[in-house]
Amino acid sequence: AHQWRGVITEYAERLPEHLTTHVVTLGEGGTPLIPAPAIGDRVGAEVYVKYEGMNPTGSFKDRGMTTAISAAAARGAKAVVCASTGNTSASAAAYATRAGMTCAVLVPDGKIAMGKLSQAIAHGAHLLQVDGNFDDCLVAARKLAEAYPVELVNSVNPDRIEGQKTAAFEIVDALGDAPDIHALPVGNAGNITAYWKGYTEYADPAFGAVRASRTPAMWGFQAAGAAPIVKGHPVDQPETIATAIRIGNPASWQQAEEARDTSGGVIEAVTDDEILAAHRILSAEVGVFVEPASAAGVAGVLKRGEAGLVPAGARIVITVTGHGLKDPSWALRGADGGEVTPTKVGADVVSIATALGLG
Ligand code: F0G
Repeated sequence: AHQWRGVITEYAERLPEHLTTHVVTLGEGGTPLIPAPAIGDRVGAEVYVKYEGMNPTGSFKDRGMTTAISAAAARGAKAVVCASTGNTSASAAAYATRAGMTCAVLVPDGKIAMGKLSQAIAHGAHLLQVDGNFDDCLVAARKLAEAYPVELVNSVNPDRIEGQKTAAFEIVDALGDAPDIHALPVGNAGNITAYWKGYTEYADPAFGAVRASRTPAMWGFQAAGAAPIVKGHPVDQPETIATAIRIGNPASWQQAEEARDTSGGVIEAVTDDEILAAHRILSAEVGVFVEPASAAGVAGVLKRGEAGLVPAGARIVITVTGHGLKDPSWALRGADGGEVTPTKVGADVVSIATALGLG
């Protein structure tokens, strides 16, 4: 039987050699591409979701962490550092442990989902809560890596982008060609950069056998309270319930604009309410549980659909970036914002059947 071997081994011929000499993997990648007619029917298109919550630590970060940590291990690194809104730290902690390295993570004070914090701690990271937001953490992490013997594993590290581009490869391999449109959330803007690199390389003979006849339009979505690229200037106090993308000054800002413009795409904002509505559709109609930030791409496609901006019959892939168990509390909030609690019943069958409306 074939077992998926992780993105470095599966796509070795598409990756720089320095990433393939000392492979540190947890079997990341190979995630499901799930048809989502509940979304497609709403916008008159053929929609799939790429469920990145199915990676080993529950987010797409694992694709870039296998490459970043493998490269660091090959260079003999003993310690890595990252700034994070949570998922990067969970992933860095797991892969560093796997490689026998120490891992320092800088997270903003508060606003980190419990699941992610638990992962970083469980995997033995040195977790520091910094008095500042994500952008402050990233500045500090970069300075630390410049001045001390620790390697930076944020997505400003090009090895991260190389690993994350494999998600685009998997999508083309599954569909037989690139989709018309690729939608995803944008935070620090590493992932949109990585997808665009992957799609571009698969369509260009300079990078090996051509697997795609075209590249998709890249549609990126920021949370309205943390939408610097949409606004055209950094946001000092980013705010959104989608804590993973609560970022005011994305490191890969320019690359994201390049992906948008070269692909004929857009980067737009979605409100927290729109994100939560998309989160509910994903949970209750598609059957895919994600953390709030991960629903931003779906929210964006629905919003553009309502505005008549989704081409009829377009093939659209939306990346849902992280698992719902990372930040499960949002599921317990009803559409009206009230708390949802289980109905209590006696242990007898009649009470249960009555409560279920069967009797
Ligand atoms: N979705 C989730 C679940 C994320 O954790 C992130 C980023 C994004 C989307 C945005 O991706 O930054 O490449 O544009 N999380 C980072 C972290 C910042 O620290 O975990 P991006």
